[in-house]
Amino acid sequence: MPWPADNDSAVFDLIDAEVERQNTTLQLIASENFTSPAVIRATGSVLTNKYSEGYPGKRYYGGNLIVDDIEDLARDRVKALFGADHANVQPHSGANANLGVYLALLKQGDTVMGLSLDHGGHLTHGSPVNISGLFYNFVSYGVTPSDERIDYDEIRDTALRERPKMIIAGATAYPRIIDPAPIRAIADEVGALFMFDAAHIAGLIAGGVHPNPVPYADVVTFTTHKTLRGPRGGCILSTAEHAAAIDKAIFPGLQGGPLEHAIAGKAVAFREAADPSFKGYAEQIVRNAAALAEALAKEGFRLVSGGTDNHLLLLDLRNFDAELTGKEAQAVLDQAGITLNKNTIPDDPRSPFVTSGVRIGTPAVTTQGMTEPEMVEIASLISRALRNRTDDSALAAVRDDVAVLCSKFTPYG
Ligand SMILES: Cc1ncc(COP(=O)(O)O)c(C=O)c1O
Repeated sequence: MPWPADNDSAVFDLIDAEVERQNTTLQLIASENFTSPAVIRATGSVLTNKYSEGYPGKRYYGGNLIVDDIEDLARDRVKALFGADHANVQPHSGANANLGVYLALLKQGDTVMGLSLDHGGHLTHGSPVNISGLFYNFVSYGVTPSDERIDYDEIRDTALRERPKMIIAGATAYPRIIDPAPIRAIADEVGALFMFDAAHIAGLIAGGVHPNPVPYADVVTFTTHKTLRGPRGGCILSTAEHAAAIDKAIFPGLQGGPLEHAIAGKAVAFREAADPSFKGYAEQIVRNAAALAEALAKEGFRLVSGGTDNHLLLLDLRNFDAELTGKEAQAVLDQAGITLNKNTIPDDPRSPFVTSGVRIGTPAVTTQGMTEPEMVEIASLISRALRNRTDDSALAAVRDDVAVLCSKFTPYG
């Protein structure tokens, strides 16, 4: 074999260190999860060697019979999981899935509506620094100041005024259910297309705990690596009407050769999500988020929108401690072995690089097997660390307690 005899310890020691980090600290980033050994096996397979530009049965290169079966399996499984007419499993990421839809269904300069970024929308929903905001005319809707929830009347008013070509639902930091039915009605009223970006909640939909947007939306995009617990990647579901345009936009429009090792990992994850046990997992994610929210409220934190219906919560840190920023909280909690991210809260007076909030998610700790009692313990650990944020020995003690908790729920033993 032509490969070097040493096992590249520079890389593999770092991978081992990352396994150790994931095993011994708390992963509370709402967009992360632990994949199964089967998903890891598929993504680490020889499928990474194969070029397969095109789609099953219509490839540019030879040798794709097996890859065709794998991609067909992934497409069939995800269509069955969500009840969709058409699936494209090739997007390398959620951002590419969204961009592929825009390329397929919009013209440069078209007006598109999405949730404003500082109210929980995603960069690909029109950020001025993202290609979406550079190529299309995005107008935003927001959450109502009084209850910090999406206001469907405001979406309708904005849609009637702006006459968008497309309305996007979906968010990266929104703790409540998004109801696709009223948005479908608004889209019909103004003659707009309806895209639902289910990146965060795809697993909750698959598990039956959030409404499925597929019967309502023209297109549903999602990432496969968040609540759905698959490998990193994206996916697009659509009605039969848009199938050809979407496939053409992803390849040759946007990407080259698909990552068939990732597609095999997606196929494995779609099967895992169809297993009856996944419903219990999705339900537990939501129960854990509610328990964590309640326990954090008792510790003196304000929850944006008063709580959560999904896998994440947004904490407004200001009434816990007016001086504490999201940036500092993230750094302090990192030191204490608790990984989460700073996040703007609606109408945040601080910049997105500083923020007044943090976002906390329960998909990963739920995969580890933690339930409500552990959520109470996590709330107390977060509170202890933040109250003692200038005391290194207190933070080290929290880190030790985090490690003890994680040792009972090690994801990769
Ligand atoms: C709502 C939403 N859409 C799209 C994406 C983009 O996914 P990716 O990071 O895989 O490009 C994200 C990622 O956080 C997201 O939250």
